[in-house]
Amino acid sequence: MKTITLKSPFDMHLHLRDNDMLKLVAPLTSDTFTGAIIMPNLVPPVDTKEAVTAYKNRIMDAVSDKTFNPMMTLFFKPYTKEFLEDVRDEITALKLYPAGITTNSEGGVESIDTIALAPTLNAMIDLDIPLCIHGETNGFVMDREAEFMSVYEELAIAFPKLKIIMEHITTKDAVEMVQKYDNLYATITLQHLLITLDDVAGGMLQPHLFCKPIAKRYEDRDALLNIALSGHPKIMFGSDSAPHPKHAKEACGCAAGVFTSPIALQVLVELFEKNNCLDNLQKFISDNACKIYNMKPSSKDVTLEKKDFIVPKAYEAYGETVVPMYAGETITWSIKS
Ligand code: NCD
Ligand code: ZN
Repeated sequence: MKTITLKSPFDMHLHLRDNDMLKLVAPLTSDTFTGAIIMPNLVPPVDTKEAVTAYKNRIMDAVSDKTFNPMMTLFFKPYTKEFLEDVRDEITALKLYPAGITTNSEGGVESIDTIALAPTLNAMIDLDIPLCIHGETNGFVMDREAEFMSVYEELAIAFPKLKIIMEHITTKDAVEMVQKYDNLYATITLQHLLITLDDVAGGMLQPHLFCKPIAKRYEDRDALLNIALSGHPKIMFGSDSAPHPKHAKEACGCAAGVFTSPIALQVLVELFEKNNCLDNLQKFISDNACKIYNMKPSSKDVTLEKKDFIVPKAYEAYGETVVPMYAGETITWSIKS
């Protein structure tokens, strides 16, 4: 049977939530990934050293593989250099959300003013802390990311030594922008390599494919796919796997977020194989991230085999139920146990 081994796979943008949902979803990442960048948008947001370390401990209690590396982030606010120095060893990055732009981002930044934010951003440069950004304005939903490009550009020029990660890019504009400045990098999700707005809302509404940023046009999807398949050194896999309880997705007022952790590696192998680019998957899933974040790969290898995997209709435990992308469908690759 055909197999492929991925060395030290990382998920560079992951929502693990807390409490029972954390217990349910954490093993579904730690089973196959060696580590992940953990998003801080809990309620309340992770914005103190105590909150970071306590959350990390709860994650380690919940994961199946105790060698799993949860790379913690701090919810971006104007912090002092003293504070950042003190928390430096506990975190990998800061995550900036424009206020109110997505799930639990109410405490985010009201306006991205390079002068007002300079003390914090300069301290991050001194301490070599990357800045991860959710890059959307509150404009028309299909234009939100494109409208944010001028902000990325302004930050990239004003802080050339700041490592800026454009999180979950969804547009051709972002694919062009990330290549324009040396200090810009990007993550791409699974769903944005596969779907467009047609899949979300072109027929019957598909709540399990609804996320922020919303999936865009065919030319956007193709630009994302091309740069990911090429193994471009500035592009990393970040699933943005964002579990919400089934009742919050299948509801009037559907929560944004696509749950992909348990299918991510299988679908990526299928996609890269279909496009004859399997040789570049190792870069997308680990090597590029290691270079961008100055990380050492771990010794965890994951082998997949070309064998059908029927995606469960839902994952249920601890009183929580969450529906994955492609629920009930068949993927042609499985994790080799
Ligand atoms: C994420 C969530 O649910 O926390 N939702 C999403 O649609 N991607 C937040 C985010 O990354 O925007
Ligand atoms: Zn996210």
